[in-house]
Amino acid sequence: MTDRQRITLHRLREMHAAGEKIAMLTCYDAAFARVLDEAGADVLLVGDSLGMVVQGLATTLPVSLDEMAYHTTCVARGNRLAWIVGDLPFGSYQESTEQAVRSATRLMQAGAHMVKLEGGGWTVPIVQALVERGIPVCAHLGFTPQSVHALGGYRIQGRDATAAQRLIRDARELAQAGASMLVLELTPSSVARDLVASLPIPVIGIGAGSGCGGQVLVLHDMLGVTGGRQPRFVRNFMVPGVSVQEAVRRYVSDVKSGAFPDDATHGY
Ligand code: KIV
Repeated sequence: MTDRQRITLHRLREMHAAGEKIAMLTCYDAAFARVLDEAGADVLLVGDSLGMVVQGLATTLPVSLDEMAYHTTCVARGNRLAWIVGDLPFGSYQESTEQAVRSATRLMQAGAHMVKLEGGGWTVPIVQALVERGIPVCAHLGFTPQSVHALGGYRIQGRDATAAQRLIRDARELAQAGASMLVLELTPSSVARDLVASLPIPVIGIGAGSGCGGQVLVLHDMLGVTGGRQPRFVRNFMVPGVSVQEAVRRYVSDVKSGAFPDDATHGY
């Protein structure tokens, strides 16, 4: 892809305004950053999912800010044009706005272009403080893995009308506070569509159906190298004889054309 432009916040807004789907994948090292970037992924998320897929942990909770900064540096070294989102890990922003600013600064200095944090309501002043200080923010609602114990496991969020309304209210507040992107995880497709319709910013879905402005998958899931049973929303883009580069190109192309996800197969 020689004619690809560098992905900036401005470019992401243009894509959203034009209805172009945003293709995001998680990425944790320089080698894959190069492959994903060259295959046309718009956004590389250095997710704290690295605790599970790289470190073999049962949850993302033990991942440290030092580890996130290290992996962000690696990804930034391999990347050329994609937008890099650094995930604030559990315990790095929950205490105070000051703590969140310090932690976000660390990830931005490591090479992130934007930071992501989980939750709504209590995170609104944090988002506002980060944005005021020049740090772009991606919010994360629906199933939020750092709250896995409070949520009672890996469950679909926003199933009843009250929970769906709360999701939409939280999303609107985060957008008003200045978040410029939102990841929406494990939410019924119909709720995701309502939420997307009420928000001015791109919503990147993972298990949230085809109505989102983009999609994200955990890299190891879409390459079929994660052990065990996969959630319904995952598609393995590796088929025998296909290279990793080709699998990523297919993912980008299917997200952009709307061929992935297919609500009947991957939705809730
Ligand atoms: O950490 C991560 O990889 C994420 C995605 C699941 C969206 O937050």
